[in-house]
Amino acid sequence: MARNKYDIDEVLEADFDSKQFGRALRYARKYWKRLAAAFASSIASALISLVPPLLIKEVTDELIPNGNIGGMLKIALIYTSVLLFTTLFTAIGSYMTNIAGQSIVTDMRRDLFVHLQKLPFQYYDSRPHGKILVRVINYVSAVSDFLTTGLITFIVDFFTIIMICIFMFALDWKLAIACMGGVPLIALVVIILKPLQHKAKRRYNNKSSNYHAYLNESIIGMRITQIFAREEYNQQIFERLAKDNKTTWMKRVKLQFLVPVFIENISLIFTCVLYLVAAYLLSQGQILIGTILAMTRYTSRFWTPIVDIGNFYSEVAEIGAYLERIFETMNEKPDIESLPGSQPKELEGGIEFRNCVFEYETGFPVLNNVSFTVKPGERIALVGPTGAGKSTIVNLVSRFYDLTEGELFLDGTEIRSITLPSLRSQMGIMLQDVFLFSGTVKDNIRYGSPDASENEIIEAAKAVKAHDFIIQLPKGYDTEVSERGQSLSAGQRQLISFARTLLRKPKILILDEATSTVDTQTEQILQEGIKALMDGRTSLIIAHRLSTIRDCNRILYIENGRIAEQGTHDELMAAKGKYFIQKLKEKENV
Ligand SMILES: Nc1ncnc2c1ncn2[C@@H]1O[C@H](COP(=O)(O)OP(=O)(O)O)[C@@H](O)[C@H]1O
Ligand SMILES: [Mg+2]
Repeated sequence: MARNKYDIDEVLEADFDSKQFGRALRYARKYWKRLAAAFASSIASALISLVPPLLIKEVTDELIPNGNIGGMLKIALIYTSVLLFTTLFTAIGSYMTNIAGQSIVTDMRRDLFVHLQKLPFQYYDSRPHGKILVRVINYVSAVSDFLTTGLITFIVDFFTIIMICIFMFALDWKLAIACMGGVPLIALVVIILKPLQHKAKRRYNNKSSNYHAYLNESIIGMRITQIFAREEYNQQIFERLAKDNKTTWMKRVKLQFLVPVFIENISLIFTCVLYLVAAYLLSQGQILIGTILAMTRYTSRFWTPIVDIGNFYSEVAEIGAYLERIFETMNEKPDIESLPGSQPKELEGGIEFRNCVFEYETGFPVLNNVSFTVKPGERIALVGPTGAGKSTIVNLVSRFYDLTEGELFLDGTEIRSITLPSLRSQMGIMLQDVFLFSGTVKDNIRYGSPDASENEIIEAAKAVKAHDFIIQLPKGYDTEVSERGQSLSAGQRQLISFARTLLRKPKILILDEATSTVDTQTEQILQEGIKALMDGRTSLIIAHRLSTIRDCNRILYIENGRIAEQGTHDELMAAKGKYFIQKLKEKENV
């Protein structure tokens, strides 16, 4: 079976890049107080927990042999407080790390989301959406874990090991040396098993990301799947991805279990060595039993931090890869950015294209030297064959792209010196596919004007002739439309989108084949809505059959990225040029 793009893993291997870690640390720096508190508590808890073995030694070697009950009570009290404080500091540490961690996650996700909203259409067309989701959700939380728990644990582990060594050597250097024999063995485990474990984890992450991305797209595209009866084929893809997900998970788990097993055994072996050496020293009268007990307590806590530290290197590599992905997304340049010094501008609706050339791909001009002027309030129709460049022209007016050459003015101001939010908030753009969001009809109408009142919503709906059908819906304006509005007809969706656009009171109206998916009868209804929309504003309309274009002040016939003819309907018909021929053909087809 053919492999698809969901079988391609992301390459998650990155060389250590201190710049990226520096950038990541900037997120942590904001919460340095919480992190410092977390760190201090963790160190305090680590320090205090070094005390109990010494207490045990004291009790065994001094207090019990001397029958010192008072001393024993005192030790019991100290022991209890030690336990209490350890718990307290651990809790504070954990609370602080979590709160800092969640704050970092929130900040990073917000930055990603804000940036994702700026990225152009092409960015989303060129990659599976599920993989973008994985970056925002999974990678960000892994990075935040590392910046908080990971870094703190690393430092505390390091500190703990040094302290344990000091205590062990202070207790008895011969016993301490006997225990150190285990260190090379542990190192071996870390060197051999950890890279395997790390690889397994990465493989799993990749497979699970592929799996989620596919699931995500399948749900979005379910209608098309069913239309083309691709269920079985898709199920095969799904099962393959699921199987990869499962096998890599199992491998990961097996390796994960292996490491503690080795550590347990090494720890056990060296406890035996410790007892052997201790027994010998005891027989020589060189040490007391309490020392042995304290020593075994220390050694048992010695191995895990060593393994964790060994783990740190591979963790850094993994986080580096995640950071690369996250920052790659953040660095993705929005194609359109307001020029420095650009300002909001109240538009009247005048448009001037002056010798405009536009290329989507360098070297392939789609518009060649287009010039035309539209006065405020004028209605202009763009007609011409598919691929002529009509949509491109209107996309330039909304500034979804910037010109390659030439100039574009809105009311005499260069379009790039008007801030994007100001520009777009005065544009009413309606496309062929209407996207409705989950929520009620009312919510959808006020999507672009969240502050609109109930009355304004109804007025807008009435003006575009949407009111009549809306009140016939089960709950009128409060009827829930499913995501993408699939529960409504194309014409109804379009009417809602008209109301949504009208409510914003745009200065420039753009209709790009907004009615071409509906039947002629529905189009009649939409016509009236469109008339209401066009009233008093500059309009650019791309349409074929629409009779509204006869009422336009001017028709531009676009062909091969040029204005081939222009004039009113009557003028163009009289000229018997390309427009005339197109109309003749349309008549034949009816
Ligand atoms: N996003 C894009 N990237 C590359 N080429 C594009 C893009 N959009 C349109 N084109 C190309 O530009 C030309 C004009 O397209 P368009 O303006 O959509 O035509 P029309 O709306 O008149 O049918 C076509 O050849 C089309 O293939
Ligand atoms: Mg088009």
